[in-house]
Amino acid sequence: MKNILIIGSVGQIGSELTLELRKNYGSNNVVAGYRSTLPKGELLESGPSERVDATDIQQIADVVKKYRIDTIFNLAAILSAVGESKPLTAWNIGIGGLMNCLEVAREHGCAVFTPSSIGAFGGGTPLDNTPQDTIQRPQTMYGVSKVSGELLSDYYHKRFGVDTRSVRYPGIISNVTLPGGGTTDYAVEIYYEAIKNKKFTCPLKAGTFLDMMYMPDAIRAAIDLMEADPARLKHRNSFNITAMSFDPEIIYAEIKKHIPDFTMTYQVEPVKQAIADSWPNKMDDSCARREWGWKPEWDLPAMTSDMLKVIGEKYAKGLI
Ligand code: SER
Repeated sequence: MKNILIIGSVGQIGSELTLELRKNYGSNNVVAGYRSTLPKGELLESGPSERVDATDIQQIADVVKKYRIDTIFNLAAILSAVGESKPLTAWNIGIGGLMNCLEVAREHGCAVFTPSSIGAFGGGTPLDNTPQDTIQRPQTMYGVSKVSGELLSDYYHKRFGVDTRSVRYPGIISNVTLPGGGTTDYAVEIYYEAIKNKKFTCPLKAGTFLDMMYMPDAIRAAIDLMEADPARLKHRNSFNITAMSFDPEIIYAEIKKHIPDFTMTYQVEPVKQAIADSWPNKMDDSCARREWGWKPEWDLPAMTSDMLKVIGEKYAKGLI
């Protein structure tokens, strides 16, 4: 990776991945692509930005040519709960955007990283120790687009030799940019509410286990996979990766260790609950460990201490 384009650089993952890539590969070699919201602060000041709408193939091609891009991180996506009410937008961005990246990559010799998700499972998938290779018949628009994306990415690799790689991310917990409209977002919101209001209304039932990961691990996974020796990769699109699995009661109890008067009640949101019930409780990520050395560094206690510290500081400064 020498010259890198991030599509979706102002999103939850993009805003942190772009800065990390700039640290590792040189600020001027990492272009922050955005659709409508201009990058701000460090993201804007630390390197080049360009308007790149994933659904506009010409915009992608122009930026790839201008900066001689060799690697595209294609992060533009509509998350699972929003996708249920906007299926066409979810498809156009998820699959239209990916097709555009793959075509530009085919022509200009770029590698492409596209996140898949736990959402690529459902409808008959074994939910405990979900294997790398198993049934994928999801019943959400988000999942349908993720499975299609995995297939398209493998197709472009086999048919045209495009260097496509991908991980199935679990819910990602972070404290820089809020996610929006995801089923796992409760595990981000709970930290903000614990700091701000000391109470949280949970949209998922007790006992709903889902895979989760702290952002530093998610970013390291993307970079390590793109740097991995291709000779070792038997799989490409996509690798199961996970760092922890918990239900609302477990994360609540962990936060309560730090904030004893924190309280949580439940108000189940049926769309999110149905999605969560169809997703793995815990994935088996041994394949990623074997093929490119994946290993998470953050567990629930360490992540909780760090989240509460960072969000607490922001709150004290009046930033949230
Ligand atoms: N965080 C995503 C969602 O909930 C899952 O990949 O939509």
